[in-house]
Amino acid sequence: MEDRNILKVEDLNVFFKVNGGIVRAVENVNFQLKDGESIGIVGESGCGKTTTALAIMGMLPGNGYVDNGRIFFEGEDIINKDEKQWQRYRWNKISMIFQGAMNSLNPVMKIRRQIGEAIRLHNPTITKGEINARVVELFKLVGLDEKRINYYPHEFSGGMKQRVMIAMALACNPKLIIGDEPTTALDLMIQAQIIDLINDLRRKLNMGMIIITHDLSIISEICDRVAVMYAGNIVEIGSIEDIIENYKHPYTEKLIKAFPSIYGDKRMAESIPGAPPNPLSPPKGCRFHPRCHKSIDICKNVLPKYTSFGNRHFAACHVVKGDSLNE
Ligand SMILES: Nc1ncnc2c1ncn2[C@@H]1O[C@H](COP(=O)(O)OP(=O)(O)OP(=O)(O)O)[C@@H](O)[C@H]1O
Ligand SMILES: [Mg+2]
Repeated sequence: MEDRNILKVEDLNVFFKVNGGIVRAVENVNFQLKDGESIGIVGESGCGKTTTALAIMGMLPGNGYVDNGRIFFEGEDIINKDEKQWQRYRWNKISMIFQGAMNSLNPVMKIRRQIGEAIRLHNPTITKGEINARVVELFKLVGLDEKRINYYPHEFSGGMKQRVMIAMALACNPKLIIGDEPTTALDLMIQAQIIDLINDLRRKLNMGMIIITHDLSIISEICDRVAVMYAGNIVEIGSIEDIIENYKHPYTEKLIKAFPSIYGDKRMAESIPGAPPNPLSPPKGCRFHPRCHKSIDICKNVLPKYTSFGNRHFAACHVVKGDSLNE
């Protein structure tokens, strides 16, 4: 078996305890990332993208827990590590740019100190001179003028702040970086620059990457592969070309058709009728069946298994079926 996976997520379930019961935010999630590969996770709001990322970072909120599954990083199961062991991975090996994080920079602290503190936290013996050199190096890496290291956050534009967040995520040379909506809230020109930067860094540093977004066009520029999530499940996974041009799952089809720029022709984007299910009581069977234009009887009761459409392209649908898998 080829096992050059930097990350392998296996049968992951992540639930949240709430007053009304249990939120089944992520269920039966499986995917793998090879060394230097980048994968996009796409899906509607609330489908479990951030929760999947937080589980990989070992940073679930207090009411969240891994109900089932394993997460392997470079072959080692990290799910049952204690907090002290997690700290060996988090930021050092796996790092994350959080959703909306650029607004969480401390307004009264110079950027050099904020990045410096992140570096020191993970390298307690590092000297002040070494920290300064590393901050300058990181500034250059993310395309910021090193003269600005002593500026305050308000002296940076939105795009620059996002570059600072990327610099912080890179501070300890991680092997895997997770970007949760890394370009949302930026205007289109700046989005394009940040996408170029991410692509450039990925090539230069040969990192694994997970990019979370609503926006398929961003994924198509940054990622090798795409996982399409719906209501806590990955319904389809494959290469960019497979997902955009050769999609199989009816939900992926709807999602692609909702992005006319990707679909290519000039007709109106289609909307997907209905709304995602309540995660406290998701429907039996395929979670997409109440909104699916192809659904048949079995979809209402039986959760579909993945079938293969070749070359690491899988979809879980009773109607559109590839080759059966043994497992
Ligand atoms: N701490 C929490 N307690 C209870 N439910 C939660 C908690 N965090 C997330 N959820 C629920 O888990 C589900 C998945 O949320 P998640 O934040 O992972 O979605 P997402 O795909 O990242 O959405 P978005 O695109 O809006 O960021 C949602 O139904 C959400 O309401
Ligand atoms: Mg999110």
